[in-house]
Amino acid sequence: MTTRRQFFMGSAAALAGSALPRVARADTPIYPYAELEQRIARKDFRGMTKDVLPTPSMVVDIDLFEKNIKTMADYAKKAPIFLRPHVKVHKSVDVAKRQMAAGAIGITAATIAESELMSRGGITGVLWTKQPGSRNNLLRAIALTKKDPTFMFVVDDMRVADWVEEAAGAAKVKARVAASVYAGLTRQGIANGQPALELAQKLHKSKNIQFEGFMAYSGYASHTKGFAARRKKSQEDLLGVNETMLLAKKAGLPVNIVSGGSTGTYNMDKEFGLTELECGSYVFMDSIYKQVGGQSNDNEYTDFESSLSVLVTVDSKHHPRQVSTDYGNKALAKPTDTVKGMPWLEVSTQGAEYGLLTWKDGGGEIKVGDRVEIYCSNLDMSTNCYDRYYIAKGNDIVDVWPIMGRSGAAQR
Ligand SMILES: Cc1ncc(COP(=O)(O)O)c(C=O)c1O
Repeated sequence: MTTRRQFFMGSAAALAGSALPRVARADTPIYPYAELEQRIARKDFRGMTKDVLPTPSMVVDIDLFEKNIKTMADYAKKAPIFLRPHVKVHKSVDVAKRQMAAGAIGITAATIAESELMSRGGITGVLWTKQPGSRNNLLRAIALTKKDPTFMFVVDDMRVADWVEEAAGAAKVKARVAASVYAGLTRQGIANGQPALELAQKLHKSKNIQFEGFMAYSGYASHTKGFAARRKKSQEDLLGVNETMLLAKKAGLPVNIVSGGSTGTYNMDKEFGLTELECGSYVFMDSIYKQVGGQSNDNEYTDFESSLSVLVTVDSKHHPRQVSTDYGNKALAKPTDTVKGMPWLEVSTQGAEYGLLTWKDGGGEIKVGDRVEIYCSNLDMSTNCYDRYYIAKGNDIVDVWPIMGRSGAAQR
């Protein structure tokens, strides 16, 4: 009989021919699952491979990830343009630290919670791109300003400028604020021209505010298909922003930053007036972004690699040309997801915890126990559903990075 010790210390080879699901290498050790969390806590990754991970789980290919970080950093240095990458796509201090180490001047965050988490993790130069519309957010933005004088946020409304002035005065701090201006997305941004100039002047005159410049995010441009069309859209969306910037400079205002841009438009927006880029998705790339097309290929955007996938297990098969998986609605499975190395598979779901992979006649067969890696459609949404990244070098897990500040979490 196999003892407990022999079971833990054994290998798939030792159990060859056993009923265990297939693993990538026959010498994969039988992993002590009961210890998985303790081993992660003490960063002991010996013997931890993709084969032993629970699924569905997010796996980052560290080589591709580092290549993406370098590609963007090299571009920014060469352009030159500052990089303040958006963290919404990854929500990870570990990723942000690597972006900073590659030369970023800070990070951009979508929520005050993300801003606080990044700052607590030692990241400076955080730009929060929403104005504080609630008392909770206002007081937190001021508290963060007090704790970290490099923190900046935006305002697109005269009343909010007054709130910030009052709250900053009460806390005896000088809040660093940029005016958020319209750049094609109706979700935020004061109208360019005179209204934006008046807001900028108000911010500049406010005793407890340091006016920093402008924030202008052109969200539709980022996903416009085809390089030439995307360039045209970005240029159109940033025309008004440029007009505002020139008006502000003419009026004698200091314009330290014009922040915006995206993974889709990173290599065009300097020309259209941005001084810094807020690109986020480039670190991982999702399946939808891959389709926007690049300068050299209108059908596939190849500037950055797909470095993140969701590892999924095939757990039932009873019908032709389909299998069930554990990648269902709760794991945010979408029909626009793609399967790594198996383009013939189509992704859909069969319920909260049940996923579906289908294929047409002639597609490769997959079996119960197989594992596939899925490229998500929209990583902003998907990373929000998982609590960690398993960092892989080939098949080996070499680190685990937490995903923080997810919606619904206490710190949101
Ligand atoms: C304010 C803001 N800036 C920049 C980005 C760029 O992100 P990405 O590079 O992922 O397109 C986003 C994405 O949603 C955003 O909301």
